[in-house]
Amino acid sequence: MIALSLAEIATVVGGQTYDIPDPQVRVTGPVVRDSREVEPGSLFAAFAGERVDGHDYAADVVAKGAVAVLATRPVGVPAIVVDDVKAALGALARHVVARLGATLVALTGSAGKTSTKDLIAQVLRSKAPTVFTPGSLNNEIGLPLTALSATDETQFLVLEMGARGIGHIRYLTDLTPPKVGLVLNVGTAHIGEFGGREQIAQAKGELVEALPADGTAILNADDPLVKAMASRTKAKVLFFGEAAEADIRAENVRLTENGRPSFSLHTPSGCSEVTLRLYGEHHVSNALAAAAVAHDLGMSVEEIALALSEAGTLSRWRMEVTERPDGVTIVNDAYNANPESMRAALRALVAMGGARRAEGGRTWAVLGQMAELGDDALAEHDAVGRLAVRLNVSKLVAVGGREASWLRLGAYNEGSWGEESVHVSDAQAAIDLLRSELRPGDVVLVKASRSVGLESVAQALLDDVQGGADAR
Ligand SMILES: Nc1ncnc2c1ncn2[C@@H]1O[C@H](COP(=O)(O)OP(=O)(O)O)[C@@H](O)[C@H]1O
Ligand SMILES: [Mg+2]
Repeated sequence: MIALSLAEIATVVGGQTYDIPDPQVRVTGPVVRDSREVEPGSLFAAFAGERVDGHDYAADVVAKGAVAVLATRPVGVPAIVVDDVKAALGALARHVVARLGATLVALTGSAGKTSTKDLIAQVLRSKAPTVFTPGSLNNEIGLPLTALSATDETQFLVLEMGARGIGHIRYLTDLTPPKVGLVLNVGTAHIGEFGGREQIAQAKGELVEALPADGTAILNADDPLVKAMASRTKAKVLFFGEAAEADIRAENVRLTENGRPSFSLHTPSGCSEVTLRLYGEHHVSNALAAAAVAHDLGMSVEEIALALSEAGTLSRWRMEVTERPDGVTIVNDAYNANPESMRAALRALVAMGGARRAEGGRTWAVLGQMAELGDDALAEHDAVGRLAVRLNVSKLVAVGGREASWLRLGAYNEGSWGEESVHVSDAQAAIDLLRSELRPGDVVLVKASRSVGLESVAQALLDDVQGGADAR
């Protein structure tokens, strides 16, 4: 964080100081909410959670070097006391960001925010110092904490913004007003909480409404609800996508034999070839979005293509590929799932398996429920099951309850399958089955919505053989 005195922080957040011998002492270290992350110079934000209350750690964190605690009551050590720690963090972030010289990039969407944020960060940091949201910390606490980790050196600040309802993005853009705003897609994530796709579009579009006239809205030309957001912004608009009218476009998209997407990247300033290190063609859209941001911020197409081709996965369980020493490859994509990414993951699986098929290697799709599909759930699970057959995946293991049975039934009804698809009730049953069946050359994709927690299957298969080589 840029250095600020406790007196200044207290004024910004409208708090009372307690037990502070010298209000001119400055916070220089990170602002954190987890006592394990405290460093000398830190400000510790005390939150009362369900299991632990940050206030109980006040003495600990000060002993570890924290300058003060942001708290809702005096705690016997230096503290700035406020009514609402969350709001105080937000006010502090707003104050600090206004003083930074950095360009703020914000992104939202239904699926792919974290993957795209990680791509943007890797491309921009090849050019200049960049601070970005760690993992998925995209809410009203994670966002200020990230913004507060920027320093005077930071040139680009890349912030993931999540929303579960109308007004959420507006709240976040008020704290950290972006210059560049990107909307990836409008899908079905959290559709129950929103009430429908139109409402999701309404909520995500708040991002482009917040942009200034000299800012840039970056919108997905392939997604009609996102494309339509162009009318909701004062900013210049750049479109990305495979659509012919997109400013930043992918042409000749194909999968390499190991499942990595390759394409020609077209921008207004030229064209360059890109082969991603990420797996699955859904990352083409994410890469184009990142390219559009970088193009807008002045990077050349060659610089962008090089950085995209070198970018890896920074966040876990998203098409995380590990080859075990015994020759079995595990593809852990258990972070989340929707129909589109299921299809992309199956295609990547088949591409990866292609090279190994000659040696007797098989492809396994270990799939669970795609959540939040509402009335489409039956049809979408059925379609994924059918696609597994059409793509000639060797084995489908559907894991879980009713939705898993729809996956299996889709495969069965597609025709050619009998023994090749099975339905098991839970992760442990899937692990037992795979342990007895897997052999060298096999490739195993593990994927379902977050709530299913299918990463336990991938983890168990990796734990079986110690020292798996990371093939990322
Ligand atoms: N562009 C995309 N379109 C559809 N699904 C995607 C896209 N990018 C990623 N996904 C899927 O969404 C899951 C979560 O990706 P992530 O980048 O963490 O998104 P978010 O941060 O929006 O939750 C991935 O495992 C993948 O299945
Ligand atoms: Mg995320």
